[in-house]
Amino acid sequence: MALCKRRGFIYPGSEIYGGLGGTWDYGPLGVELKNNIKREWWKDIVQLREDIVGIDSAIMMNPKTWEASGHVEAFTDPLVECKVCHARFRADQEDSINEHEKSHGKSNEWTEPQKFNLLVKAYLGVLEGKQSEIYLRGEITQGVHVNFKNVLDSTRIKIPFGIAQIGKAFRNEITPGNFTFRSREFEQMEVQYYIEPERGEGEKWFDYWKKQRMEWYTKLGIRKDHLSFRNHEDHERAHYARDACDIDYHAPFGWSEFEGIHNRGDWDLSRHEQYSGQSMKYKDPDTGEEYLPWVIETSGGVDRAALFFLIDAYWEGDGRIVLRLHPKLAPYKVAVFPLLANKPELVKKAKEIYEDLKKEFMVAWDDRGNIGGRYAAQDEAGTPFCITVDFQSLKDDTVTVRYRDTAKQDRVEIVELKEYLHDKID
Ligand code: GAP
Repeated sequence: MALCKRRGFIYPGSEIYGGLGGTWDYGPLGVELKNNIKREWWKDIVQLREDIVGIDSAIMMNPKTWEASGHVEAFTDPLVECKVCHARFRADQEDSINEHEKSHGKSNEWTEPQKFNLLVKAYLGVLEGKQSEIYLRGEITQGVHVNFKNVLDSTRIKIPFGIAQIGKAFRNEITPGNFTFRSREFEQMEVQYYIEPERGEGEKWFDYWKKQRMEWYTKLGIRKDHLSFRNHEDHERAHYARDACDIDYHAPFGWSEFEGIHNRGDWDLSRHEQYSGQSMKYKDPDTGEEYLPWVIETSGGVDRAALFFLIDAYWEGDGRIVLRLHPKLAPYKVAVFPLLANKPELVKKAKEIYEDLKKEFMVAWDDRGNIGGRYAAQDEAGTPFCITVDFQSLKDDTVTVRYRDTAKQDRVEIVELKEYLHDKID
């Protein structure tokens, strides 16, 4: 957390006013990391596939959506209140409850668990007293399902197919915490994958997506032994899920949910059909058969991904702190330095390289302090490559390229730099 603040990855939300519980702001490096995660996800899920299209739906939706989806009734966590100081906790988080009891030095009296709805309310409209109460979306999912027909009518896509979306969701979490892990405002990246309504198909695509999503995280550098699948017990499944499995991450605060894969059956489409009075059925273009498809969903958190990629990349050794982020996720791909800031010919050449590389990569510039300090700063930022322009560069148009994880250096011709970097990053 200290590194995140120091280097500009993540800051507490509204910090100068004492903060706002469960909200976080992303600094200059954090926003790059998050954008890179989202870009890689979109590329693999939408750009490289023919069976998935993307959408970007509104955060504010007609409140009937949330009645239909079951969230108004069932999107709840069990809440208990300390009768001594009125602090509120999730009844299923025994560690926090025990910790709280210690703060009073005795075992407390608690209220009976009550259902607490997590939807965040907002008020829309300009007339005082006549504003309509709406909800900020509690999951990005419903914006996809209400557009199921629009997407069918405006594309040539056929079942099995998916609709992907990335966007903000809001939950009035009872106990936000563990840094950004449980926030009240966060981003999700989801696929709603529509399939034939049949058990065998459900099991096939559920297993397929579990495998795909696990591979995606390991491909981008999360250690295999830090990830595992966890099937949900009957009592913990969300109200919409027939089957649910989490990909869990071995976080410093214990194994924790990273992403959920759910078989939502026809829950969403049938409920929207019922509440809107409009047909949500799919008509098979080959057989003419009409049916409500089932949905296999993959739902990951962008903030959780940023947090777990950071934790997994953090490395201390040889007196160094290094963020060994996958080069595709690293905020800056490369940093450029003149060996000495007071030698105009070195600065000029380094600036030329910096300006040229900037057209294709996120590039950092640093000419302060000594070269060791500059390398250390870039190691902490996760920058995989540092280019130094030295006196030899003036003679033969080569530079040193230092690799973050090994601290080893190559001598590379300036004209070859772009190809060299593309090659290493990919
Ligand atoms: N549409 C299904 C859905 O929303 P979920 O298991 O409630 O399912 C999916 O959430 C993912 O969203 C989680 O696995 C997690 O990565 C992220 N997420 C959920 N609540 C979160 C919170 N309070 N803070 C940060 N990320 C959260």
